[in-house]
Amino acid sequence: MRIFPARFSNITKMLDFYSQFNPSPLSIKQFIDFGQNACEKKSFVFLKKELPVRLANIMKEIALLPDDLLHTRSVGHVSSWYVKSFEEVLQFEKADPTHENLQLFVNVLEHIRNRHSDVVQTMAQGVIEMKETQSDAVDSSMEASIQYFLDRLYMSRISIRMLINQHTLLFGQFPNDQGRHIGCLDPACQITNVVTDAYENARFLCDQYYLTSPRLEIQEHNKVDNEKQPIRTVYVPSHLYHMLFELFKNAMRAVVEHHDQDTSDKLPPIKVLVVRGKEDICVKVSDQGGGIPRSQSDQLFKYMYSTAPQPSKSDLHTVPLAGYGYGLPISRLYARYFHGDIVLLSCEGYGTDAIIYLKAISDEANELLPIFNKTSSKFYRATIPTGDWSNQVKNTKKKQSATEQSAAQVSS
Ligand SMILES: Nc1ncnc2c1ncn2[C@@H]1O[C@H](COP(=O)(O)OP(=O)(O)OP(=O)(O)O)[C@@H](O)[C@H]1O
Ligand SMILES: [Mg+2]
Repeated sequence: MRIFPARFSNITKMLDFYSQFNPSPLSIKQFIDFGQNACEKKSFVFLKKELPVRLANIMKEIALLPDDLLHTRSVGHVSSWYVKSFEEVLQFEKADPTHENLQLFVNVLEHIRNRHSDVVQTMAQGVIEMKETQSDAVDSSMEASIQYFLDRLYMSRISIRMLINQHTLLFGQFPNDQGRHIGCLDPACQITNVVTDAYENARFLCDQYYLTSPRLEIQEHNKVDNEKQPIRTVYVPSHLYHMLFELFKNAMRAVVEHHDQDTSDKLPPIKVLVVRGKEDICVKVSDQGGGIPRSQSDQLFKYMYSTAPQPSKSDLHTVPLAGYGYGLPISRLYARYFHGDIVLLSCEGYGTDAIIYLKAISDEANELLPIFNKTSSKFYRATIPTGDWSNQVKNTKKKQSATEQSAAQVSS
């Protein structure tokens, strides 16, 4: 008697096969060059191999998650979505790029994108379910492997969505309806426009929640091109928007809560500085929201770290200003995806500077992708780290210190 259906063992074989390959990272320049002379057949041939490779690499890591998390209902859903999508792209493994197949492929990609739209919330729900069923608090090594995994899962998801979006926008229903955009890339993305959009939308939420909001002041320094030209770059505007929207929500919440007696005109403004250097473009968002104590700085980019009250589950129709603790870690992934970064610097008692770094040169802006291999698997094996600094040894088995030894001798 066979325990698994034939389909299941076949999937396992295919996963082993495709996960042996490393994903091929593309640069923004390659996305643009390809999009300018877009050839649907070439894109099809590339994606029918690259998508299963990226899916298989992350599915292998899902399988290594600690059992308590892997067997939650929500992680079960996420995992089944990946299996389904993997099977669907594999249908095209040996398919020729005929007109019919190309059309079918676009439809399948759109389906996959929709199927995975709730991965972030569902995974977060899985972590909550795991914590609810555990009698003890999650230990630090488990916490670290979950953090490691979520960064990689969400980064893989960002990259797969980027590939799918490029293909479906370039070759889907309205391919010629894009203006200067090439798929989801804007070859001349004016940064201050995205700043203003993100500020306005965050301000709308802030006004709804607090009935007041701080003003915005923008400054630009463009030393590389003409000083008077607004700074433009080749980028995915929706990614930059996501990062700025999250930073503005955080800054606004901090400013309003720190100055809770003040009216809108008395609140200190949020200042944004956009700078173009030779290598980097920096967007600095500065607030006077009272800052963050240094003892909390290690927590900021952890999933589910939040000092805001948890948004109520019953109130599905209003978007909360804060509360999930996903804003910063996901925004940093968007920045890192094309080799940028997000850094927070704070002066407790005054305010915070959040800096988004982007690569200024499009062929240096390469995708950063997780690769499944022996090194990555090692992170999922539970190890209890032994602290080797005096402030880390509290919870680990340790040699007695000299004072403890003499104290023990005195008391015996
Ligand atoms: N500019 C800031 N000033 C003061 N504290 C901040 C600032 N930015 C972030 N923080 C602190 O970092 C925490 C984590 O921020 P993050 O954006 O990741 O989550 P959140 O805002 O609580 O929830 P959400 O997922 O809805 O964004 C916040 O709860 C807040 O305590
Ligand atoms: Mg936030």
